[in-house]
Amino acid sequence: MNGAIFYSGRYGSTAQYSKWISDATGLPAFSIDDPAGDPSQYDFLILGSSIVFYRATIRRWVRQHSPALADTPIVLFTVSGAPAGAKLDGWVAESLPPELVARMDHVALRGRLNHDDVSWWLKLILKAGALLNRDRAAAEEERHGFDHMDESSIRPVVELVDRYTTRSEPGRRGR
Ligand SMILES: Cc1cc2nc3c(=O)[nH]c(=O)nc-3n(C[C@H](O)[C@H](O)[C@H](O)COP(=O)(O)O)c2cc1C
Repeated sequence: MNGAIFYSGRYGSTAQYSKWISDATGLPAFSIDDPAGDPSQYDFLILGSSIVFYRATIRRWVRQHSPALADTPIVLFTVSGAPAGAKLDGWVAESLPPELVARMDHVALRGRLNHDDVSWWLKLILKAGALLNRDRAAAEEERHGFDHMDESSIRPVVELVDRYTTRSEPGRRGR
């Protein structure tokens, strides 16, 4: 089966994870803004999405490409400040169609926030959010930034890709 990675991120950490996954699996990686990427050409898809303000940034692209995604096996990896858990699962459920959420695999990866990369008004919103956040550890990270980038954390994604690529049936979509 042939697959590809399509990713959505702004500050580089989702792109970095996509590159690590691409290097480890041989799958091509496309930013969702890259016109060369056509998700309808693949038998399975790895979708990478940053989380910004409690939502997956890939959600609009998913809506726009719903015909190409129907019946296609999907692995979603999210890149966020929050770790894996109910909070993150809730944000993903609010972002994507329930039918997709029910059948996809989801791997939570942790990203990076450098306040120097963020516009002054987003910085202000993050700092205000930190004041209201009752999760003190998350509030500290909103206030000061963080770096949880970890190449070894891609392993569950690579294992899922291996499961698809070692299947013997010929590619459904002929590439
Ligand atoms: C404006 C802004 C809002 C964010 N909101 C959230 C959030 O709601 N939940 C969370 O876990 N992380 C949040 N983050 C952290 C990002 O998910 C993290 O920085 C991620 O690595 C960004 O991915 P990128 O580098 O590919 O853009 C936010 C970051 C920014 C800059």
